[in-house]
Amino acid sequence: MNTQALIDTAKMMVAGDKGLLAMDESNPTCNKRFAKWGIPQTEEARRAYRELIVTTPGLGEFISGAILYDETIQQKKKDGTPFVKAITDAGIIPGIKVDTGAKVLAGHPGEKITEGLDGLRDRLAEYSEMGARFAKWRAVFAMGDGIPSRGCIEANANELARYAALCQEAGLVPVVEPEVLMEGEHGLAQCSEVTEEVLRAVFNHLYSQRVMLEGLILKPNMVLPGLACPKQETVDEVADATVKCLLRAVPAAVPGIVFLSGGQAGELASARLNAMNVRFKAQMPWALAFSFARAIQQPALEIWHGEEINMPAAQKALYHRAMCNRAARRGEYNGATERAGRESVPMGVSSLKRAVSTR
Ligand code: 13P
Repeated sequence: MNTQALIDTAKMMVAGDKGLLAMDESNPTCNKRFAKWGIPQTEEARRAYRELIVTTPGLGEFISGAILYDETIQQKKKDGTPFVKAITDAGIIPGIKVDTGAKVLAGHPGEKITEGLDGLRDRLAEYSEMGARFAKWRAVFAMGDGIPSRGCIEANANELARYAALCQEAGLVPVVEPEVLMEGEHGLAQCSEVTEEVLRAVFNHLYSQRVMLEGLILKPNMVLPGLACPKQETVDEVADATVKCLLRAVPAAVPGIVFLSGGQAGELASARLNAMNVRFKAQMPWALAFSFARAIQQPALEIWHGEEINMPAAQKALYHRAMCNRAARRGEYNGATERAGRESVPMGVSSLKRAVSTR
């Protein structure tokens, strides 16, 4: 294992004010998002959409790494250039999602276990050969009556740690993603309690499996009230709860934390990340960045609508959301950041019409 190379890659992934772009939706998830907008659910449509993303001019100004899916990492631009080359040429580090999805956890109604460890050593070697420098594995924890259970937390934490150890053996930086889901009536305090318990279990297992913390990136959820909770805290309250929880549970040796967006509106995700960096930058031992899928891609997908003619406008929208998240990393995001980009993005797009909240 080349320890220094892993540390260097991990540092590069969260260097400066950039973050990651998750474009690793599995085919079923990508198809589901396409179906909502009447976009054909074909391999060619998925390829064209990913070409739109990787050829967005200037994306490398804000994005340090892009997480690809098995189908995508093998695809090419229309002109024959492999996506991996297009990404690398744009100054973006290619990564790959390596779990094979969350399945029902036996004996635990309503809970899931992520699969994909079988044959992972060989798959990691292949992805490394294709140019990937980091890999991602997502575990999900549903909130509800008596869940997540200890059994679910321990099983998923153990798999995350075994995956991370295999990644480092293969020279790939693991992006460890334990996601406490937003669905439910639970309050902010309950999400904080569960997120802390999950993170503590994950780091215990990472330690047991001898994973080098300096060579990994953590991708957690923000600490949020459930979507159906009547009390929705302010942006500042969410920022405080999230950073407090992370300071308790994430060792200082970890170089960076990159949030998933989990279905938050793009503007809200940017505002919350911004508040964390404004209020806590001096106290945090790790970089606090983003690894959003929906919170960066959503407006672009809506504008594109499967039509080539919409590609430039969609790319502008993608560029804009990536730029907003760089501003959030700097603690400089506000309504003016949003307006600056909107002037060049066609209006009439639902996600751009939502109120901008910086509080
Ligand atoms: P969202 O930002 O849409 O939650 O996606 C992030 C991700 O990588 C999910 O695994």
